[in-house]
Amino acid sequence: MIDINDGAIDARGLVKQFGGHRVVGPVDLSVRPGEFLTLVGPSGCGKSTLLRLIAGLETASEGSISIAGRTVTDDPPKERDVAMVFQNYALYPHLTVAQNMAVPLRMRRLSLPQRLPFVGSLLPRSAATLAEIDHDVEQVAKSLGIAQLLSRKPAQLSGGQRQRVALGRAIVRKPRVFLLDEPLSNLDAQLRVQMRSELVQLHRRLQVTLIYVTHDQAEAMTMSNRIAVMFAGNILQIGTPEAVYDDPDHLKVASFISNPGLNTMPFAAIANTQLGRQIGAIVSGSAECTVAFRPEACTAVSSADQTDLSGRVIFCERFGAEAFAHIAVDYLEHPIIARIEPAHATRLTCEQLVRVNLDISKLFLFGPDGLRLRPRRRAAA
Ligand SMILES: Nc1ncnc2c1ncn2[C@@H]1O[C@H](COP(=O)(O)OP(=O)(O)OP(=O)(O)O)[C@@H](O)[C@H]1O
Ligand SMILES: [Mg+2]
Repeated sequence: MIDINDGAIDARGLVKQFGGHRVVGPVDLSVRPGEFLTLVGPSGCGKSTLLRLIAGLETASEGSISIAGRTVTDDPPKERDVAMVFQNYALYPHLTVAQNMAVPLRMRRLSLPQRLPFVGSLLPRSAATLAEIDHDVEQVAKSLGIAQLLSRKPAQLSGGQRQRVALGRAIVRKPRVFLLDEPLSNLDAQLRVQMRSELVQLHRRLQVTLIYVTHDQAEAMTMSNRIAVMFAGNILQIGTPEAVYDDPDHLKVASFISNPGLNTMPFAAIANTQLGRQIGAIVSGSAECTVAFRPEACTAVSSADQTDLSGRVIFCERFGAEAFAHIAVDYLEHPIIARIEPAHATRLTCEQLVRVNLDISKLFLFGPDGLRLRPRRRAAA
């Protein structure tokens, strides 16, 4: 059994440059032993590079990394006791599932001569070690529901099955740390949802430290103990999914973790409205700020009464139990997305006049630098 206290990861001032161009850092990141941490952010923000730095597949330009309290900054990947699963699974096409899963065990448990074809198996202790390897592979295959596939080649498997084999190959080694880089992105929507739950259960069973990279906010929100939101090589916020969602520190974070989008408007556009005056009363320095709120913080109701946030419906989106209306407000550049009762959605028509009822307690304000401005009462508290 793995000692879960062994899996802490600590990165300090970690920087990666490619050709003089900084793509990551400086990043400070502490991952607790046994934690499921998700790195989330838009394409190209440096998630894979940060993961590869931790795995040792890239060398750091600056800074240090420790795993289980031991500095590993200059250690090669095999000395870090981490297992990485990539988006493309990287299975050997000519090997069977069992052989693919056995590769890391053969590399660790067999000597070079023992690994030779034919002759190797005749060497002393080879047979016993090979039997142990078979046994371990079979146990892991059973736990992942792929025991019946052990003699197949990767080409004879579905995407989901390949993904399980890649996970299995990582698990057999019982590493301290799992690093998964978008492992579900090749799967169809339904299978992704199923695999999300399987991965969470697997993590619970294995109790290893797991860093999971995705650009999918739903995966980040549903699977992790904490999420770290990355932009342009830096972590802008790290916290529980609820904390990051309910209390974003930065406009980019709020905007990225928002579905189906974040409503934003320059304060200047609403300064003379009742809403603008309310905001001005609770936050100082609001003149240059951006006002933001999520679609679920407001509801659209049909009404001919003109209010601060009245407009015409330009589009209705329905997601089963939820529905949203896109509303064009005269003085705003972008339409407001507001929740509507699904029963109401079928009755709303394009061009219809609606009023947006906003819950002002769920409104966020961000300064010109994107940082959150907190209401005065909160700052005083
Ligand atoms: N070997 C390399 N040489 C030069 N630039 C690189 C190299 N690897 C990555 N980059 C650059 O570093 C930046 C971060 O890339 P990275 O792959 O870490 O992003 P990512 O967040 O994983 O994106 P995605 O979500 O698309 O996978 C990108 O601008 C990329 O072009
Ligand atoms: Mg990537």
